[in-house]
Order: sequence, then structure tokens, then C-alpha cells
Amino acid sequence: MSSAPYDAIADWYDAYLRENPLYAEVILPGMLALVGDVTGQAICDLACGQGFIARELARRGARVTGADLSEKLLALAQRYEASEPLGIRYLLTDAQDGAALPSAAFDGVTCGMALMPIADLRAALQTVRRILKAGGWFVFSITHPCYQTPRSRWVTREDGGAAREVSGYFDERYWTSANSSGVRGQVGEYHRTLATYLNTLIEAGLALERLAEPQAAGRSAQAVPGAREAPSILLVRARAV
Ligand SMILES: C[S@@+](CC[C@H](N)C(=O)[O-])C[C@H]1O[C@@H](n2cnc3c(N)ncnc32)[C@H](O)[C@@H]1O
Repeated sequence: MSSAPYDAIADWYDAYLRENPLYAEVILPGMLALVGDVTGQAICDLACGQGFIARELARRGARVTGADLSEKLLALAQRYEASEPLGIRYLLTDAQDGAALPSAAFDGVTCGMALMPIADLRAALQTVRRILKAGGWFVFSITHPCYQTPRSRWVTREDGGAAREVSGYFDERYWTSANSSGVRGQVGEYHRTLATYLNTLIEAGLALERLAEPQAAGRSAQAVPGAREAPSILLVRARAV
């Protein structure tokens, strides 16, 4: 695996983000709801990719720094910034050390759908804690670890409805999906239990404030009817203590 696997799929991911209703209908609104008013705040969008979340925060009045490991996604982010100048600063850095990011500099940190591909979760969350000011907030979204395991799938109930069948939950490991039309089929990610995510967060000095498990509606529920039955995304808000 390359040190920046998203470099190989940057253009594909950019198109996928724009076409997949889950991002526009579930992930972005869910994150913005947990973030709240950002006017005047200094925010780091960690593992920002092509800047999908960073741009929305900047449009709402935040001073945004985007950081990512993928040069190609950052180049796309810079291209969006050139066509819609929002004052976003983009930095190339590994979230596991955040070397390019100053300490105690941000009121808030966002991390959208990006803790799963990061190998060292503890190191990434320690970076989040280090770059936050005391009392600063952290909002992240991940694929729901209870329902999106390496061995889970949609099945049809006897009454014809959709249900999620889950196994392999305790087997924490890197995996790629057989579904090559999704992100996991392209680059893979780490499966971790819910307890691993939340305990590592707490151990990094980030106190849990709120969780959200949005129920899909609209186009995302049409695309995946089972998403009305079981959440595919988990969103978390925490605070630096
Ligand atoms: C699914 S994408 C999400 C991107 C963006 N947050 C969004 O919502 O579109 C995962 C991102 O994590 C980044 N990433 C993976 N490992 C990383 C690391 N160690 N440090 C920084 N970024 C990383 C990838 O380059 C990619 O941009």
C-alpha cells in the first residue's frame, strides 16, 4: 500500500463524493449539526481530502485549515479554492503526527470519514488533542463500526424488508470490500469496535459530548433501502479536557 493510498483514486473519489447522496444528505448535515455555529472560529479539517467539509465550514464564517496526506486530493482542494476563494489554507501532513499543524491553535477540529483508513488511531487522536485549544471541540464521522464490519451485508427479511446481518465484529483488522464501486473496495480501511473508538478518544483527553446515528432518507434511502433500518454512519462530538 502506498503511504497515501488516496493519491491513486483522487479523481474517482472527487466524483464519488459529488454523486453519492450519503455525503450531501447524511454525513455533511450530520457533522454541521454537531459542530454548531462556527462564525469566527479557527477550525482544522483533519484528513480533509478535496475539502468538501472545509469549504462548508468556511462558507459559514470559520477560518479553516485543511490537512491531508494525499497530495492529489490537496491539489483538487486548491483548485476548488481557486474557483471559489474562501481563504482556506491547505497543508500536507500525516494526521498521525500532524507535523505541519501548530499546537493549541484551533477552536475546533473536524474529521470526516477519515479515522477508518488511518492505521494508528491513538496517534491521530493525540494529534487532535494537541492542536485543540483547551475546551475546544472535535467532531468526526465514521462508518458505523457496529453495522459496517468486514463480514456484514444487507439481507432480505421474510416480509421482504431489508435487514443488516453482522458478524466478525470483534475481529479488528484492515480490510477491503468486494464492492469495488465504494471507497472500501478501492482503498480499504481498518475495522475497529465501537469500544476501541470511544475508549481511545477518551484516553487521548477528549471527553464525549454527543453521538448521532442518522437514519437515511431521500435519495440515500432510495439507493440503500436498508439504511432506513440500521445506521451506516456514526457521528461523534467530543471536547478537549
Ligand atoms: C474517505 S476520505 C475523506 C476525506 C474528507 N474528509 C471528506 O469527507 O471527503 C479519507 C481521507 O483520509 C486521508 N488520510 C488517510 N490517512 C491519512 C493520514 N494518515 N493522515 C492524513 N490524512 C489521511 C485520505 O487521504 C483521504 O483524504
